[in-house]
Amino acid sequence: MSELAVRVAAQAKLNLHLRVFPRDESGYHPLETIFHRIDLADDLVVEITSGTRTLDVAGTGTGPVESNLAWRAASAYAEHNRWPGGFNIALTKRIPVGAGLGGGSADAAAVLRALNSLSPSPMPAPRLLALGGSMGSDIPFLLSDAVMALAWSRGERMLSLPPLPRHDLLLMTPEFSVTTADAYRWLDEDRARGSDGRESMGEQPPGGEAIAFDLLDLSSWARIAKFARNDFEPVVAARHPELSSYLARLRSSRATLAGMTGSGSTLFGVLDTPPDYSKVPEEHRARVTTTTTSIDVVQPVRVG
Ligand code: C5P
Repeated sequence: MSELAVRVAAQAKLNLHLRVFPRDESGYHPLETIFHRIDLADDLVVEITSGTRTLDVAGTGTGPVESNLAWRAASAYAEHNRWPGGFNIALTKRIPVGAGLGGGSADAAAVLRALNSLSPSPMPAPRLLALGGSMGSDIPFLLSDAVMALAWSRGERMLSLPPLPRHDLLLMTPEFSVTTADAYRWLDEDRARGSDGRESMGEQPPGGEAIAFDLLDLSSWARIAKFARNDFEPVVAARHPELSSYLARLRSSRATLAGMTGSGSTLFGVLDTPPDYSKVPEEHRARVTTTTTSIDVVQPVRVG
């Protein structure tokens, strides 16, 4: 391995809270979300080479190289920062794919951070955030130095928040996955029909009632649990009814906060004590991952 190589743990994220507002003139839906990093991470090693550009992926379900977000991020960085040479990226997938945990975005953010740390002329943070944001709503947060953040617009505007205490985390990834585009389309369809779960909240506008966050509301897992919701939850549950029973099980366990992350399909439970596998039905055990919530951002480290 050359001297110019770095290793990055590409941490996954949870959306503890996610509200989606009506599509705007750009064709996208503005968001309001609370992101939190978790310790489940893909492993990336990025090495500078004299000319070749390669991506090797170990793990499952990532598709062709050209559509891999890590590859697209590296190519975009090379173009925007006039990177003259090549790079080898070795990616080991651990984060479930298409599951709402930001796996692809975590890889893209990790590649951008790695290349910027190796570059003789690093990009200033706002340009790097803008470049990441042009590739997906989760990337700016995962590029930032925030463990937890309140983010809005398309995720590129955010307020970093004090991290919450580390907790055990149980992740349950159902057998079905949900594409981001489908989730937004379903939300629009259900809202047009008035069947997006708002009837249970009275006549609320899409995205819900006005809300004024207080820093205190965001200062503990239990306080966040009091208001947290995910607008995608009812629309995904309407198409995959098993989601509701999985969620009910998580909520009736010892989870301080439980919900669906992103557009799904992974469900999470933030636990006060380590998970008890004997309580997880045997047929679901292969779909359960245990990890912890993060208390810091893992920085790229030089290797070689
Ligand atoms: O970000 P990504 O390319 O994965 O998004 C896929 C699709 O989801 C977009 O083409 C758009 O239709 C929809 N989307 C949206 N609002 C967002 C993010 C995505 O409508 N904030």
